[in-house]
Amino acid sequence: MRKVTIPHLMEMKASGRPISMITAYSSWQAAMVQEAGAEVILVGDSLGMVEKGFASTVPVTMDTMIDACAAVSRGASSPFLVGDMPFMSYEVDRAQAVANAGRFIKEAGMDGVKLEGGVERADTVKAIVDAGIAVVGHIGLTPQSATLLGGFRVQGKDLAGAEKLLADGRALQDAGACSIVLECVPAPLAEILTEELSIPTVGIGAGKGCDGQVLVFHDILGLYGDFRPKFVKRYLDGGKVLTEALASYVSDVRERSFPEEGHSFDMDPSVIKELDR
Ligand code: KIV
Ligand code: NA
Repeated sequence: MRKVTIPHLMEMKASGRPISMITAYSSWQAAMVQEAGAEVILVGDSLGMVEKGFASTVPVTMDTMIDACAAVSRGASSPFLVGDMPFMSYEVDRAQAVANAGRFIKEAGMDGVKLEGGVERADTVKAIVDAGIAVVGHIGLTPQSATLLGGFRVQGKDLAGAEKLLADGRALQDAGACSIVLECVPAPLAEILTEELSIPTVGIGAGKGCDGQVLVFHDILGLYGDFRPKFVKRYLDGGKVLTEALASYVSDVRERSFPEEGHSFDMDPSVIKELDR
């Protein structure tokens, strides 16, 4: 597959071809997502939950993200690679936001960064874009500030919320964002925003009217416990399949049915005979 670029994604929107985005946090996951044909890999800060055992994305650090992004860029080269800026890496001041965004590009081989927030984050997005870095926006339910939103709930359901979401989308596009993730937004509202914007929208829990869809790797494959939000479609009970394989190994070891002869190394018996023992 040829390298996916921003013009490629814009062209997909223009011609009505849906964009597939999947998260990945390691080289092997990235290689699988690339092989599956997704146009965009997101190294999400969801890594904190699905890979690191945190209860939210809030504790994820820059160094953790850079490490994961570098691994992903070693595993996949064709998809457009987006690194998620972690909580408090872009809110404090603009210079720090630009410098941190730069690390994703320079140190970790990402093609762009993603950060959460709309109108209130537009100046930061513009500063990062002005530095020559592609930015993907993220509005609707923004998990890093879920406390302020009153928890993990659908956003933009009432008139004020819907107007805020449309304003957020416009502000990000005006600031130079190349795409926007819409998380937990009513489908009709996501469709209106998608029609209005010239840049592609990528939905998660935002209905089929978006220009693309994104899901977390572990959610698609059933690798993250029993946690299953309404918007997730699980394509495999991976946790069960993998655990069964591991259990077969454990039982083989206990029964001494592994290793078999073919898994072992032999040597000249005369050497054993001459051993002084
Ligand atoms: O961190 C993440 O995986 C995300 C996607 C769910 C959009 O932000
Ligand atoms: Na995220």
